[in-house]
Amino acid sequence: MSQSNPQKALSAADVRARKGGTPLVCLTAYTTPIARIVDTHCDLVLVGDSVGMVLHGLPSTLPVTMEMMVLHGQAVARGLERALMVVDMPFASYEESPRQALRNAARIMADTGAGAVKLEGGRHMAETIRFLVLRGIPVMAHIGLTPQSINALGGYHVQGKGDDAARIRDDARAVAEAGAFSVVLEKLPAALANEITSEIAIPTVGIGASAGCDGQILVIDDMLGLFDEFKPKFVKRYAHLANDAAEAVRSYAEEVRARKFPTLEHVFTDEGAE
Ligand code: KIV
Repeated sequence: MSQSNPQKALSAADVRARKGGTPLVCLTAYTTPIARIVDTHCDLVLVGDSVGMVLHGLPSTLPVTMEMMVLHGQAVARGLERALMVVDMPFASYEESPRQALRNAARIMADTGAGAVKLEGGRHMAETIRFLVLRGIPVMAHIGLTPQSINALGGYHVQGKGDDAARIRDDARAVAEAGAFSVVLEKLPAALANEITSEIAIPTVGIGASAGCDGQILVIDDMLGLFDEFKPKFVKRYAHLANDAAEAVRSYAEEVRARKFPTLEHVFTDEGAE
């Protein structure tokens, strides 16, 4: 179930050492074929709980389960050789207590071969992060807009504006001091993301943050234009695969109805090669 050669894969320590260096390239992946594509180019591949919305049509990340994360983690591991695989801890799998977090993080690591887990939350999760790290589980933190708290935050708004900046800076300091090897900064004012990046000792990975972060991450289906239900401002579409797929399916339907597909090229005879 693990990455085919974990010795060759980047470790959380390798990623941690990239602070202030060449920006870390990070993307999500949920399946083996996509993992194979991103592995060549990425330093870190996140099996994000965004899988719930992107692949399972769920309205938010809240209904995502441990079973889903383990299944997609196993699929992604089969496609990775070089990148560090990080698996998201789903909603309600770690908030109750450090012990609950350890139990579920250990299951994710053992069943998927992930090199680290990611969990959402700042200062209030610092004790849990420290507990996991001291027991051998590398943790990527995630602060700013934390989608698992969407009901408490009241929407997918930019965080850390005006006086709220102090809270986010405090979160960043707390997760770094607790031993996280890296932290995702989601949907923050660019100036705040830059300040945090210069203040803390671990790499910041931005999504809707700033080009000054130590790395960037996007949801793969967003940047490929595969998930096009909505497009946040921070997403750049590098391809339009949903349009390409719709056009391909339209052509197929047209050709089947017109008996233009299959042609002789696609059918078998008694003698011909398969
Ligand atoms: O679940 C996810 O894909 C994430 C990224 C957006 C950082 O947490």
